[in-house]
Amino acid sequence: MTDLLHPADHANPAAIKRLAVLTSGGDAPGMNAAIRAVVRTATHHDIEIVGVRRGFSGLHRGDMRIIGPRDVANTIQRGGTILLTARSHTWRTPEGRAKGAANLREWGVDGLIVIGGDGSFHGGYFLQEEHGVPVIGIPGTIDNDLYGTDHTIGYFTAVETALDAVDKLRDTGASHERIFVIEVMGRHAGHIALEVAVAGGAEEVFIPEDPKPVDGVVQIVKDSVAKGKASSIIIVAEGYPGGATGVSDAIEKGTGLETRVSILGHIQRGGSPVSSDRVLASRLGEAAVYALMDGKKGVMVGRENGQIVHTPLHETWEKSKDVSRDLYRCAKMLSV
Ligand code: F6P
Repeated sequence: MTDLLHPADHANPAAIKRLAVLTSGGDAPGMNAAIRAVVRTATHHDIEIVGVRRGFSGLHRGDMRIIGPRDVANTIQRGGTILLTARSHTWRTPEGRAKGAANLREWGVDGLIVIGGDGSFHGGYFLQEEHGVPVIGIPGTIDNDLYGTDHTIGYFTAVETALDAVDKLRDTGASHERIFVIEVMGRHAGHIALEVAVAGGAEEVFIPEDPKPVDGVVQIVKDSVAKGKASSIIIVAEGYPGGATGVSDAIEKGTGLETRVSILGHIQRGGSPVSSDRVLASRLGEAAVYALMDGKKGVMVGRENGQIVHTPLHETWEKSKDVSRDLYRCAKMLSV
């Protein structure tokens, strides 16, 4: 029953005195809540926090400063990341990482917390392997595509944002009796698409995990029309070959019906995080600091079935998290 312990009861056997935290890769709503949790958990245990700006590129350039509990005040509800983020090319070189490691040594940092997706975890993993800096990952990406956690920070909010757009497009689609093909984010994963398809009552969903031929949609639309449906919603994950435009072209060619394509894009990465993302971020931020205090390194903190779990960083990209096949089946059955 560790969860019932007062935080002050958590010992610090690794004798951590100072930690660094950064956000990297695509931003995700809830990253600020995670930074806040890291800072406040650390402060509670008399550990100082160094905030690194602009991800690994800031670490390489030494763009760092001490941040305290007041610096993260009034941030839990804000989208984006107060530490800023970037995708760093310099970090892909051993020289770039050596410079970053030297900066951490200069600042007297005992461990680094990386909030991001698998690309960011690669960056942290190499830093630890080559320079011995203990690294802990916190899963922050709207795509929900990381093995080792049921959900990633930002996913819940992205789904709500996309769903809100789908509901609005349905209004205009129904009024004009049109077919709307809506593309949601997910470069390699269909988690957002599938969730939004079921919650938005879509007629069909296309995800990269099932690269079925696009032509099947022609019959689905024809059947819908035959059943008296004047408008349809088709959801396509960005990573499905050909994207929404490919699906729309196939429908127009195969049925002669008019379609509209709507690509929701980066709007899905913004906005105030919903409560599930704020709470997940708060739990994982706390867990990341505790992991370092306990002497863990090279792991991502995640939440599975309500419990905090630790997964080796390399497994987060070596193993894949499948979409829910039950949900996929359910989406099909309900779209009659
Ligand atoms: O953060 C993940 C993600 O949103 C993907 O779904 C998308 O393909 C990608 O980021 C786009 O990122 P950017 O425009 O920052 O390169």
